[in-house]
Amino acid sequence: MLILGIETSCDETAAAVVRDGQEILSNVVVSQIDIFAEYGGVIPEVAARSHLEVVLPVIDKALADAGVGWAEIDAIAVTHAPGLLGSLLIGTLTARTLAILHDKPLYAVHHLKSHVYANWLCHDGSQNSVSDCHTPQFPLLALVVSGGHTQILYMPGHNSFQIVGTTHDDAVGECFDKVAKILGLPYPGGPAIAKAAGGEFPGDPRKYRLPHPKVAGLDFSFSGLKTAVLRAVQKEVGVPISYPSHKLAELLTPQQVADFAASFQKTAVEILCEKVSAALCEYPDVQSVVVAGGVSANKALREALPEAYFPAPSLSGDNGAMVAAACYYEIMSGVKPTNPYTLNIYPRVAIS
Ligand code: KG4
Ligand code: ZN
Repeated sequence: MLILGIETSCDETAAAVVRDGQEILSNVVVSQIDIFAEYGGVIPEVAARSHLEVVLPVIDKALADAGVGWAEIDAIAVTHAPGLLGSLLIGTLTARTLAILHDKPLYAVHHLKSHVYANWLCHDGSQNSVSDCHTPQFPLLALVVSGGHTQILYMPGHNSFQIVGTTHDDAVGECFDKVAKILGLPYPGGPAIAKAAGGEFPGDPRKYRLPHPKVAGLDFSFSGLKTAVLRAVQKEVGVPISYPSHKLAELLTPQQVADFAASFQKTAVEILCEKVSAALCEYPDVQSVVVAGGVSANKALREALPEAYFPAPSLSGDNGAMVAAACYYEIMSGVKPTNPYTLNIYPRVAIS
C-alpha cells in the first residue's frame, strides 16, 4: 500500500511516499529554519504563508522522487492536530482538495502518533531490505520529546495510546530553545546546544550543578530548569536578576557558553532518563522503549538510552514519512477514512 504523507504542523513543509508503513520511497522536507533563525523563533502567520508557497511543489517532488503518479497512490494522510492553527490549515486544506480531486481516501493523523511511528520506518541505507528492519515490540513505552510536548505513552498495541506522564509546563524542546536564547545560541536551540556542548571545544557537563525538578509520578516539569540556568548565568557573570536576559550572552565567554550548554544538556537528559526508568518499573510488561520527536535527534540522549529505539536522526524532526507510517498502522487497525469535505483541524488536542 502506497501512502502519501503530508506534514505542515509547524515550520517544516513536508511530503513523502511510503510503502506499507516502512519503506520510504521519497521524503521531501522544506524547512523554514533560515527564516525563523533571524527572528529567534517561529512566527505563526509567516509559517502559514511559507507553507502555502511550497506545499504543492513539495508534494509534486515527493511523487516524482518516488517515481509514482497519482494512480499508484492508495491513500493520503495529513497532520490535522496538534500544531499551529494556520500551518495545520494549509496542509489539511491541500490534502482535502487533493483527496477530492484524485478520489483518494483521506486519513487525519495526530502529530505525536506520527513521531512515534517514525520508529517503524526503515532507517535510510542502514538495512539491505525492509525485512531486515527491527521494529519495536509491544507493549511499549514511547518517550515523546518535541518542541511542544514531553510525554510518556504506554502502547499495548498498534494505534493504542495511553498518556502515563506529561509535562506540567514547558516541553523539553522548548526548554532547549529558551536556554539557547539565554546563552546567545541560534534558533532552533536543541541542535545549537548540542553543538556548543560537544563541539570543537567541548563544555564541561559537571561545571554547573542544575536542579532536577521534584514532580510526582511520571510527569515532567522543565520551566524550573530554564530559570535555574538563567540564575546560574546571572551569578556567573555577576549581574542582578533585574539585568535584561537578552543582554546576558554578551557577558559570557565561549567556554562558559559551552559549559552551560553541556551542564544543561546533561541535566535535561538525566531528567528524561529518570522518568523512563520509573516508567519501566511501573510497567514491567514493557518489551521496548521508543523515543520520538525533535529532541530524539540529541546524541547525548541516544547515548543515555542505548537499549531504546530511536528514529534515524533525519527522521527525528517533522517529516511526511512518519505521517504515512502512522496512517498505515491506523488503516491496519481498522480506522476508516475521514470525510474530505468536513475534516477539521485541532491545534491543541491530546493524543488518543
Ligand atoms: O518534533 P519537532 O521537530 O517539532 C515539534 O513537533 O515541536 O521538535 C522540535 C524541537 C525543537 O525544540 C528543537 O530545538 C528540538 O526539537 N531539537 C533538539 C535537537 N534537534 C531538534 N533538541 C535537542 N537536541 C537536538 N539535537
Ligand atoms: Zn514534531
